[in-house]
Amino acid sequence: MQLVITGRVDPRVIQEIIARRPDLTLKVWNESGIISREQFLAWAEDADLMITMLTERVDTELLEHAPHLKIVSNMAVGFDNFDLDALEKSQVLATNTPDVLTESTAELTMALMLLVLRRLRSAEDALRQHHWTGWEPDGFLGLELYGKTLGIAGFGRIARSVVRRALAFGMRVIIFTRRALKDLPENVQQVSWEQLLESSDILSLHVPLTPQTFHLINRESLSRIKPTAILINTSRGAVIDEQALVEALRTGKLAGAGLDVFETEPLPRDSPLRALPNVTLLPHVGSATVETRLAMAQRAWHNILAYLNGQKPPDLLLP
Ligand code: DGY
Repeated sequence: MQLVITGRVDPRVIQEIIARRPDLTLKVWNESGIISREQFLAWAEDADLMITMLTERVDTELLEHAPHLKIVSNMAVGFDNFDLDALEKSQVLATNTPDVLTESTAELTMALMLLVLRRLRSAEDALRQHHWTGWEPDGFLGLELYGKTLGIAGFGRIARSVVRRALAFGMRVIIFTRRALKDLPENVQQVSWEQLLESSDILSLHVPLTPQTFHLINRESLSRIKPTAILINTSRGAVIDEQALVEALRTGKLAGAGLDVFETEPLPRDSPLRALPNVTLLPHVGSATVETRLAMAQRAWHNILAYLNGQKPPDLLLP
């Protein structure tokens, strides 16, 4: 059987695969950059098993090129790159990697809040460019997280992990989710969508990208947010209408944003976001730690291994 892996995963996982299943033929994308669509389609022809990255679209076209495919294991918690209906029709199993990237993504969310609120990027730039003339009472002033209201959209694992950190920073937390939440700790409150928009000093998005969350933050929702607020996104770019966001940032309807994800990745060279001083932009690094990327690759492999052992893969997306 052939296992295709479409990205450069931790070599320890490759060693584990070879040790556990020496019978598998392995095809691993070890080149620099992302595998091209053409290459991916070509590799699919002989693939029985696949570990994909979030950059690979697994859709009808891919499935038509993959007559032997039995399971595709996404090395990501998000699976908006999968067409689940097409997978179900083709009777191909699909899995993701929940849990293992929760802490690293929550850490990055806090880092983005601090970067934007404390204006750390421009402070560091000033130092490097020799504009720091010494400690001054009004030098490089930002705002603190302490005492601020953090609004959270969604209440999955990453959101809960951000809440724990926010409470430790002395923030008040308000959450919008459709599920009724019980036994919330002190300083945490469930609110309506409108209250979330209107009351957050910092609004952080933790929802998966689905047809329901596509452009959840749009011109209308941005018009309700406080002009002093900042928006943080470590989920998926298309949850925000980027054009509407640029407009809000340019016209002072929103004070700033910290973005790790974008509607188009990599961020286009001519994206107007690049020119805005009140935005911190990161290249989708929420889960980019050595520990997490190892755990993600292991989890993706363990889903495949379970299938090979005749067991139900632990992170099966389809029933
Ligand atoms: C995921 O797993 O969905 C993340 O976006 C990867 O960083």
